[in-house]
Amino acid sequence: MSVVTASPPESSAVNKAGSRYAVLPRHVAIIMDGNGRWAAARGLPRIAGHRAGAEAVRRTIEAALQAGVPWLTLFAFSSENWRRPEEEVSNLTGLLRQYLKNEMAQLREAGVCLRIIGDRSRFAPDICAALAEAEHSTARNSRLRLTVALSYGGRDEIVAAARAAAEAVCRGEFKPEALDEERFARLLFTAEMPDPDLILRTSGERRLSNFLLWQAAYAELVFFDVLWPDFDAQHFAEALAEYARRERRFGARPL
Ligand code: FPP
Repeated sequence: MSVVTASPPESSAVNKAGSRYAVLPRHVAIIMDGNGRWAAARGLPRIAGHRAGAEAVRRTIEAALQAGVPWLTLFAFSSENWRRPEEEVSNLTGLLRQYLKNEMAQLREAGVCLRIIGDRSRFAPDICAALAEAEHSTARNSRLRLTVALSYGGRDEIVAAARAAAEAVCRGEFKPEALDEERFARLLFTAEMPDPDLILRTSGERRLSNFLLWQAAYAELVFFDVLWPDFDAQHFAEALAEYARRERRFGARPL
């Protein structure tokens, strides 16, 4: 089977970099699912699953760095997750606080540039400050653009962009007919980011759950039965290999 690449310049750049994949996705996005089931299967509290999930986050960032994937986006906390029991929300935000404190120096040294998407204003002020500092202190890095979706919902994001477009029209900045996909995409959290080429989800669920709804239009989807805390570099490599086997046509070419 011949593999049609998403964009030839990107794959030749990858080849120059010596990647072992014929075609490397520019942007991999992951729905990390199954922490609770992982903990339940071991008779542990849910927070133990989230802690193990944070270890999987570490492994996955390392795998992306090793593979030379330039953009990685992780769905860490959805806008719906605020509806979980107070104790779990507090445990998850505590874990985020701890993660920022313990991991940022290493990420910075590894060349990771961190960006947060979502409604961060719902987090406690100290977390907001730590997120801002983490973004600021890694802003000049470019080896891996790591985006973490926090308090993120795809529909919320699209509604906010539509509202911003309507307001700009009311202010006379542009006419309604000048609103096209490109201009609209610039109003999303992900402005200036490439769309994901590959979206992974763990835990056997096969849906997007309000993740990157606009941006996922042409993404390849790969689902794993493994629970997120068990996800490792081998699974990441399998996903990249599967991506390289897929034929991407963007609706443009009949079979
Ligand atoms: C889904 O599992 C996972 C989450 C809601 C949270 C994701 C958090 C982490 C991976 C750890 C922390 C990450 C960072 C960046 C510090 P679930 O709880 O929905 O599992 P279940 O479907 O089995 O109940």
